[in-house]
Amino acid sequence: MNVVVIHQSRTGNTRRAAELIGGAAALAGATVAVRPVTNIDYKELAEADLVFVGTWVDGLILFGHRPGDTGKVRQIPKLWDKKVAAFMTHAVNPGNAADKFSALLEGHGAKVVAARSLNRRRLEDEAPAFATEVLASVSVSA
Ligand SMILES: Cc1cc2nc3c(=O)[nH]c(=O)nc-3n(C[C@H](O)[C@H](O)[C@H](O)COP(=O)(O)O)c2cc1C
Repeated sequence: MNVVVIHQSRTGNTRRAAELIGGAAALAGATVAVRPVTNIDYKELAEADLVFVGTWVDGLILFGHRPGDTGKVRQIPKLWDKKVAAFMTHAVNPGNAADKFSALLEGHGAKVVAARSLNRRRLEDEAPAFATEVLASVSVSA
């Protein structure tokens, strides 16, 4: 299985989550590429069976949660019919940002198979667990 992990990160948390997700997918036997949104390889993306797309949670902590840097995320080539797992990182409260991110990606042509925000202080546990869960569900439905 070819897996591409795309991330938009300002202070490194979402990049770290992407690396951990990529590491877990590689351990599970996938061929993996981890890329920032600014450096996407079109051929790699076209050949992907599963794409993880990640960004950070923007908001006012108690309300107004939404995916961060959506302008950059929208620059990803249209993900027509690709299976996509959306991930985010947050500090304390992601609100419903993962649902909004999922809707954005669906609007971008993706078939979103999972969406979750990961706590930036628990990435080492939560990111590989998310990857393993998604890979298991995708290979069952494949
Ligand atoms: C402008 C701004 C707004 C944020 N709003 C929230 C928020 O509403 N809830 C939350 O839990 N974290 C919030 N955060 C924290 C980030 O989502 C968190 O630090 C994230 O891991 C950053 O990812 P990055 O290191 O990949 O840029 C906010 C950060 C910034 C800069």
